[in-house]
Amino acid sequence: MPSTLAVEAHGLVKTYPGRRGRPPVQALDGLDLAVPAGTVHGLLGPNGAGKTTTTKVLTTLSAATAGTAKVAGHDVSRDADAVRRAIGYVSQGTGADPLLTPRENLVMAARLRGAGRAAADERARELLARMGLHDEAGRRTSTLSGGTRRKLDVALGLVDAPRVLFLDEPTTGLDPEARASMWQEIRSLAADDEVTVLLTTHYLEEADRLADAVSIVDHGRVVATGSPVALKADIGAASLEDVYLHHAGRAWDAEAIR
Ligand SMILES: Nc1ncnc2c1ncn2[C@@H]1O[C@H](COP(=O)(O)OP(=O)(O)OP(=O)(O)O)[C@@H](O)[C@H]1O
Ligand SMILES: [Mg+2]
Repeated sequence: MPSTLAVEAHGLVKTYPGRRGRPPVQALDGLDLAVPAGTVHGLLGPNGAGKTTTTKVLTTLSAATAGTAKVAGHDVSRDADAVRRAIGYVSQGTGADPLLTPRENLVMAARLRGAGRAAADERARELLARMGLHDEAGRRTSTLSGGTRRKLDVALGLVDAPRVLFLDEPTTGLDPEARASMWQEIRSLAADDEVTVLLTTHYLEEADRLADAVSIVDHGRVVATGSPVALKADIGAASLEDVYLHHAGRAWDAEAIR
């Protein structure tokens, strides 16, 4: 039986209008994506490739100019409310209040989503344990390490028990140990809780270790997609970095020559 797709996009186009006399920006140029439920999918690609724009369209924060997409079975433009109820989103920047503790941040987020006091306390407790934040739960967020803060961001994305979680660069700036610890949490979200995770990253080793499949985005299109093992085998590459340079590098080279 074919697995259900938690995320599917067909021919997404996003054109940002040009401002102050500048030409419009074609951020997405016919992007396709298929992510089976319960898997971790990595979006890779150079700065400006369209990864964040893709995430924004799929999370209903931004409307596509053309193309269609479904998340958790709901159309992002026709059923935006249903999509929002099914997803969590951790943006490229932080979402936590620096003046509150992790526990207070989580309780506040749960209460904003309609939970009563007791239910919000309980949800915060679960998520602190889930993300290994127990020891730091009562410290002011501004005093926490980058890795701990980023875990709190992910915990905030999980408040509503989403079926699909979008993580935009969850490990940027983290040291190797914090990164490995984050990988473990993300992996267990998919394996134990059947959450589908779509994450963008610039760390190819991270994608190689963590993702069931990756899509390499360049100039608003997917130029290669598949499991890291299959992508490496296709071109006889030793590492995902070589795969990345093989595919994404072509467009750079072509542009440099023009
Ligand atoms: N609100 C906006 N208005 C105009 N142009 C935008 C806007 N947001 C993004 N862009 C442009 O769209 C293109 C894709 O940007 P996007 O942020 O999706 O890239 P990215 O792959 O996430 O890059 P990075 O790796 O740097 O995060 C870039 O050329 C960017 O400058
Ligand atoms: Mg981005």
